[in-house]
Amino acid sequence: MIKRNDFLPFCKPCYDEDEITAVTDVIKSGWWTKGNVTKEFERIFADYVGAKYAVAVNSCTAAMHLALLAKGIGEGDEVISTPMTFCSTINNIVHVGAKPVLVDIDAKTGLIDVDKIEAAITEKTKAIIPVHYAGRCCDMDKIYAIAEKYNLFVLEDAAHGLSTEYKGKRIGGHGMTAAFSFYVTKNISTAEGGMLTTDDEQIYEKACILSLHGMSKDAWARYGNKSDWHYEIEEPGFKYNITDIAAALGIEQMKKLDDMQKIRDEYVEIYNNAIDKIDGIDYLKDNDFCKSSNHLYIINIDNSKFDITRDDFINILRDYNIGTSVHFIPIFMHPFYKDLLGYKKGDFPVSKKLFDGIISLPLFPSMTREDVVYVTEVLREIAEKHAK
Ligand SMILES: Cc1ncc(COP(=O)(O)O)c(C=O)c1O
Repeated sequence: MIKRNDFLPFCKPCYDEDEITAVTDVIKSGWWTKGNVTKEFERIFADYVGAKYAVAVNSCTAAMHLALLAKGIGEGDEVISTPMTFCSTINNIVHVGAKPVLVDIDAKTGLIDVDKIEAAITEKTKAIIPVHYAGRCCDMDKIYAIAEKYNLFVLEDAAHGLSTEYKGKRIGGHGMTAAFSFYVTKNISTAEGGMLTTDDEQIYEKACILSLHGMSKDAWARYGNKSDWHYEIEEPGFKYNITDIAAALGIEQMKKLDDMQKIRDEYVEIYNNAIDKIDGIDYLKDNDFCKSSNHLYIINIDNSKFDITRDDFINILRDYNIGTSVHFIPIFMHPFYKDLLGYKKGDFPVSKKLFDGIISLPLFPSMTREDVVYVTEVLREIAEKHAK
């Protein structure tokens, strides 16, 4: 395979003149921080996922933190989640003073193994945070049934889950509480940003107040033309609000979301068809009830079939000017969590085995079909050359 001249990154935000105009308009308007544009972004987003309320904040991490605080999760509580996630999910549990309890994953999907959740529940368990890893969704009926039985709060980490459908309904609405990310690698981006969606008025109101220092009124209500400068601190909150500049990006990205999704779906099909023909390489699969947002395309190398490791594959792909990533280093492999969880060799065997074989390949709407085919051809060549 002839090496391409330019580097194909693992991910890149997609935009055109619409985003530039929208941001420029906000800058020219003189109101840059959270205001009416943010309110419009929240309304569009809530409508899209089918939620009653949406609170735009400066990250998915902030959205999850607010939701846990709003539900009063804290000291002495336990929260169940998955090791196959970004540190943010689990850091939030620690930040509210609770103890993370991790449940191993299902090998086919990489999602939390729902059948193992009940065994992890104690009288201290207060919440479950399922992660819609890579864009494929957890079995929410089963998770909500467990939550109901033990009176637990469910907070969905939908950082990857915008557009994901569970049994035909979008994640984030329909009575669920979910947190989305608009970080620059995500299916839509506001550079940095996140959204908390919920149907629960109490969570919504608490999240609004805590997202801005605990103030009874936001800046728009204090400095707008019908404003009143008074405000009160109801409890010490955080500085988590998004800006209207970022929200303007979000509104334009939402207009393009369905078209971008179609391209992702098409590229995933090309990847799947090609990788089905490569011996020793597989990819993570969806459950039947899921329509994935295809946020990440993750292959799984069977290390026993090659004379090189997963990391060697990554290095050779880089030599061919192909960017990749690994999602994720399981939580228990990070020194802080190894100690906190009292991790022992042999714990979470499914996550560990999956981690040893996974690579996230480039997937973003502004790459071309030819880019996708190039990646599959290089992979095939590496696999053939290094087959045992
Ligand atoms: C699964 C998961 N949860 C949470 C986050 C945190 O998102 P943010 O960077 O918007 O805080 C990420 C970010 O990559 C993620 O992948």
